[in-house]
Amino acid sequence: MAVVSIHRSELPASSERTKKWCAQLEAGDILFFNETPVALPPLDIEFLLGLQQSNSSLHKNIAYKPNVDAISGLDAATSDTAALDRLHAIMRNYSRDVNSFMERFLTPYARRWQLDYASFRPQEEQNRDLPLRRRNDLLHTDAFPTRPTHGARILRFFNNLHPTRTRDWVVGDPFRTLAPQFAPKDIKLPAPDTSASRAFKGLARGIGLGSAVPSLKRSPYDDFMMRFHNFLKENEAFQASAHKYPSQFPSGSSWMVYTDTVPHAVLAGQYALEQTFLVAHEAMVAPEHSPLTVLEQMAGTKLV
Ligand SMILES: [Fe+2]
Repeated sequence: MAVVSIHRSELPASSERTKKWCAQLEAGDILFFNETPVALPPLDIEFLLGLQQSNSSLHKNIAYKPNVDAISGLDAATSDTAALDRLHAIMRNYSRDVNSFMERFLTPYARRWQLDYASFRPQEEQNRDLPLRRRNDLLHTDAFPTRPTHGARILRFFNNLHPTRTRDWVVGDPFRTLAPQFAPKDIKLPAPDTSASRAFKGLARGIGLGSAVPSLKRSPYDDFMMRFHNFLKENEAFQASAHKYPSQFPSGSSWMVYTDTVPHAVLAGQYALEQTFLVAHEAMVAPEHSPLTVLEQMAGTKLV
């Protein structure tokens, strides 16, 4: 596990260099920019930092869904429409700008990703009172309960907006190291999916309707990744004894990491922006590190 520091002056980089960065990401390293390559206008940062003081209904994580250009996570009672419009515009611009940076930066992937949600995280992470499975301060790999990825990778890009404080993470050994420690002994390996609905989807694809059929159903891969997320958070022995590598991301910095591979926990920090990408498995430059490859090898069968 390493934090690979990249200076903005290194960009744009050669195709060999960017391919190496992709390979490092896929292997479980964090790519880190001490000075963010996606800077927000200072007035936008000031607005975001002021939300918590000026409007008590804007306390939660705020999500932006680029596919429908909508924000959520706000109380229905919020009536300050000017503030909502400003927030919406800031999130829309952030999502667009991160996507545009990633297109220029991760050239080996050739945009083979789906732009997922962006989020603003205004709350102090230290001592947050959340139900166990939603806690951010326990080491876990990411899986989305309602948005199965079917083997696509979860890549996340972050900005620490806090004017002075670091965002404090610990990360752990990557999925390819952890999974064999717990599966199949403590957590059942996935089996191939033979359900009728999947058979229907396969038939639909065969007759050219594939893209019209929503893939909201979890694959055996997605089921395992969700169970693994819960298992890690609920496993006190793992939380106590896992290798932990601390990382402190300073004010004004950015970093990106495959959070489905790298167990991570946020111990402290406030005010972060984040954009998620679902990167096609076919785009991987080092697919041997991906959870899908690791699991399919362990299970001896296709899982998506
Ligand atoms: Fe996470």
